[in-house]
Amino acid sequence: MEANNNALLLRIALLISLMTYRECASNYTFSSDFLFGTATSAYQVEGAWNESGKGENVWDFITHNTPEFVYDESNGDIACDSYHKYEEDISLLKDIGVNFYRFSVSWTRIYPNGYPYNPNAEGIAYYNNLIDGLLAQNITPMLTIYHWDLPQRLQELGGWTNSYIVESFTEYARTLLENYSDRVKYWITINEPYSICNEGYGEVAYAPALDMSGRADYLCIHNLLKSHAAVYHLFNNTYRARNNATMGISLSAAWYEPSSPEEEEAAERTRQFRVGFYANPIFSTDGDYPQVIKEYIGNRSSAQGFTKSRLPQFTSDEIDYIRGTSDFFGLNHYTTKLVRNSPATNNTVSFESDLQTEQFLNSSWPMDAAGRDAIVPWGLRKLLTWIKNTFNNPIIHITENGTPDSGGLEDNIRVSYYGSYLEAVLEAINEDNVDVRSYTAWSLMDNYEWKYGYAYRYGIHSVNFSDPDRPRTPKLSVSFYKDLIANRTVGDYPSLS
Ligand SMILES: *[C@@H]1O[C@H](CO)[C@@H](O)[C@H](O)[C@H]1NC(C)=O
Ligand SMILES: *[C@@H]1O[C@H](CO)[C@@H](O)[C@H](O)[C@H]1NC(C)=O
Ligand SMILES: *[C@@H]1O[C@H](CO)[C@@H](O)[C@H](O)[C@H]1NC(C)=O
Ligand SMILES: *[C@@H]1O[C@H](CO)[C@@H](O)[C@H](O)[C@H]1NC(C)=O
Ligand SMILES: *[C@@H]1O[C@H](CO)[C@@H](O)[C@H](O)[C@H]1NC(C)=O
Ligand SMILES: *[C@@H]1O[C@H](CO)[C@@H](O)[C@H](O)[C@H]1NC(C)=O
Ligand SMILES: *[C@@H]1O[C@H](CO)[C@@H](O)[C@H](O)[C@H]1NC(C)=O
Ligand SMILES: *[C@@H]1O[C@H](CO)[C@@H](O)[C@H](O)[C@H]1NC(C)=O
Ligand SMILES: *[C@@H]1O[C@H](CO)[C@@H](O)[C@H](O)[C@H]1NC(C)=O
Ligand SMILES: *[C@@H]1O[C@H](CO)[C@@H](O)[C@H](O)[C@H]1NC(C)=O
Repeated sequence: MEANNNALLLRIALLISLMTYRECASNYTFSSDFLFGTATSAYQVEGAWNESGKGENVWDFITHNTPEFVYDESNGDIACDSYHKYEEDISLLKDIGVNFYRFSVSWTRIYPNGYPYNPNAEGIAYYNNLIDGLLAQNITPMLTIYHWDLPQRLQELGGWTNSYIVESFTEYARTLLENYSDRVKYWITINEPYSICNEGYGEVAYAPALDMSGRADYLCIHNLLKSHAAVYHLFNNTYRARNNATMGISLSAAWYEPSSPEEEEAAERTRQFRVGFYANPIFSTDGDYPQVIKEYIGNRSSAQGFTKSRLPQFTSDEIDYIRGTSDFFGLNHYTTKLVRNSPATNNTVSFESDLQTEQFLNSSWPMDAAGRDAIVPWGLRKLLTWIKNTFNNPIIHITENGTPDSGGLEDNIRVSYYGSYLEAVLEAINEDNVDVRSYTAWSLMDNYEWKYGYAYRYGIHSVNFSDPDRPRTPKLSVSFYKDLIANRTVGDYPSLS
């Protein structure tokens, strides 16, 4: 890890030396009804893991029982302490001038063991206070129902692979809708199903880290889509009118660029496996999983000796039930990858060997400060255009976009990232007629970055995690974002090449 750190520092130094101020600003501006916000999620910021009746979730469980699962062996027991400091968080939001704040509800604060009876009054009260505090400052709440912190007891029943999840998730959501739908305008059912199912059940990147790729991930996806649809119907039939609200789902999507023109089919297959898997059943005209997915997984399954496809099938009633269950496409976007075809050479069962492509980087793309993702603003524009063309021109809310920094308050790299990605958004709106309605900067503050612990900082505010008070300090990106929101135009930023 130390050798890596040195390489990282070198790369950052190189990046900084390459930065020059851009000369010519684009002339596009954001309309007055375009919304700007910033986001967090419960486990990443709240802390208070066992206070006020909260129960244990899969992240409490994995970090307490397998500390080495996390890069720095840390956990979210205290995190940014937002459970106690939410009023200060609201004043930070007020100072930036955001139109909305995207946060998530911790399921085990409401239902400590996941079983939907007897909701915890202190949990309900916490989010009432947060919502009322935001509204008092004219900040619109955007509420995510599920951001990865499944009740541990439900995980012990199989979590998202057990179809019982549909009922428990729906009843949990009903409680939130009962209590908050008079005031919440934007609802997101589930954040990044790919991370939940493919990386949590298929791989070991996130809790519960089951490592059953090509099996558990597909069961998870199947139940997750049904759960999402059930909550959407509940909302649409019973709660929407209370506050003329809208509800959608947030999907994570990189842009997958063919590494040569001959690789377009492989690139499109990758987009379908990584995004269409979730988006096609909800946003396409015909619904259901994409044909290419059914064919690839079906053929592989039979070659491997399975008596039927590892991908569960929806009935035609289920296809109808899921189709159309989102008022908007919530998009979490961070980066771009190159793709080439890569036929399987053995009968291993996994998502990657069902997909049969390789995803890699162009070495001439600038890397982020963590050496994790490439910074490729035009990838966002291409992705937005692809979503428009593939899924019937949906309303798009960009529900996450951001990059880590290398420490300190002079986060030039984040200013460049936001500046260049927001220009790509303006081009998509003005030149490609993509219906983007809002933008969310991830994140309001440095927080618990899952498997990377506190090592990766995505915040526009810095948080001192050594100080029991967890003081927040604005970085340079706060003033950049503030001006951008006030002026509706992307100001000058250091360029990356
Ligand atoms: C912006 O507009 C000005 C004058 O209208 C023009 O000179 C300039 O080239 C434009 N900039 C871009 C990036 O198109
Ligand atoms: C909560 O957890 C902390 C450790 O993070 C422990 O010290 C404390 O006793 C626990 N409190 C309760 C009420 O269980
Ligand atoms: C909050 O939800 C619970 C469970 O559905 C319900 O018993 C309670 O009445 C709700 N409170 C309000 C104010 O709607
Ligand atoms: C409800 O919200 C939509 C936008 O989502 C808006 O077009 C419509 O005018 C609103 N209706 C009412 C009654 O406020
Ligand atoms: C990598 O990026 C360079 C510079 O933008 C470009 O010229 C080249 O075509 C790219 N290669 C691939 C495989 O996309
Ligand atoms: C899947 O199998 C069918 C029937 O054998 C075949 O026609 C098709 O080409 C195969 N598709 C792929 C992607 O291998
Ligand atoms: C949502 O409700 C409206 C009005 O009741 C209905 O027309 C529409 O079909 C519903 N949407 C879905 C996806 O069921
Ligand atoms: C099967 O092939 C994949 C690449 O397609 C490789 O990563 C994996 O190690 C191979 N597994 C075995 C057991 O050979
Ligand atoms: C963080 O807090 C610790 C403990 O209060 C303090 O010693 C340290 O100087 C602080 N770091 C910064 C960068 O302010
Ligand atoms: C944006 O507004 C701020 C004041 O909020 C001003 O200082 C700044 O120069 C403006 N930037 C642009 C690019 O217009």
